[in-house]
Amino acid sequence: MNLIEKEGWVRLAQESDVAEGTAIAVKFEDREIALYHVEGGGFYATENICTHEYAQLSEGWLEGYEIECPLHAGRFDLRSGKALCAPVEEDVKTYEVRLAGGWVYIRSPD
Ligand code: FES
Repeated sequence: MNLIEKEGWVRLAQESDVAEGTAIAVKFEDREIALYHVEGGGFYATENICTHEYAQLSEGWLEGYEIECPLHAGRFDLRSGKALCAPVEEDVKTYEVRLAGGWVYIRSPD
């Protein structure tokens, strides 16, 4: 376990695993997490499952800091998890992200 992991951060993926402007799905324990690489804007992580129905946000369309759900086109702001338009009403959970040594870490979920 390295120092970062001792501080409660979880190694999720390599930075190079996520091309700019795309997202990937990562399993962590029993959670499904979407990891986004915003063009010119860094990395963000949210729960991968939409708060409306069952759809993977990592399969949606990433535009700037917004992810559009592939099922009914609800949108969330990656920085806050805020639901931005119908039909989504409930915000999506976000995770703190940190980069170190070419790896992307998230704050260990409680
Ligand atoms: S499942 Fe995401 S908007 Fe409906």
